[in-house]
Amino acid sequence: MVSDPLKAVCENSLERKWIWVSVLLAAVAVVLLGFYSVAGNINPPSNVETIDSSRLHLSKEFAEDNLGVKTGPDGSVRVTLVAARYGFYPERIEVPSDTPVTFRMASADVLHGVHAPYTNLATMIVPGYISEVTTNFPKPGEYTMMCNEFCGLGHDHMWSRLIVVPKDAWGKQP
Ligand code: CUA
Repeated sequence: MVSDPLKAVCENSLERKWIWVSVLLAAVAVVLLGFYSVAGNINPPSNVETIDSSRLHLSKEFAEDNLGVKTGPDGSVRVTLVAARYGFYPERIEVPSDTPVTFRMASADVLHGVHAPYTNLATMIVPGYISEVTTNFPKPGEYTMMCNEFCGLGHDHMWSRLIVVPKDAWGKQP
């Protein structure tokens, strides 16, 4: 029989049993988290790109006229968003289903977050940085994008609409 390595630190066999139970529970939690993050394609954004939040309106990409949804020549979809107290601009965006959509987001003031329940779009929008997330919306429908970092008294009212249009109807709507 293999001797218990915990014997060196703990003499009581009942205590050792409970230590093993807690170690096992922690291991199960790590395996489950790993499984769900891989299966659900959940990962932190990997880019680091800085921007001067106080001069967003003067930047090319985040100037008011350049915000919104744009389709590239290869069919890729890019969404440029500004998060500012208290809203996401533009306040309503439409994207196609089942298509990779790249969000580029910047805050004009304080820390915000964006979370669209029932999708895997969720990230922080840290002032001074551009948050870039590429995701895919398999199910057409109307979603809510909410701010999920407390940003002030209007935090609860900071949300906007995300409309996922069926892929085959994309670009054909009036
Ligand atoms: Cu923005 Cu809370």
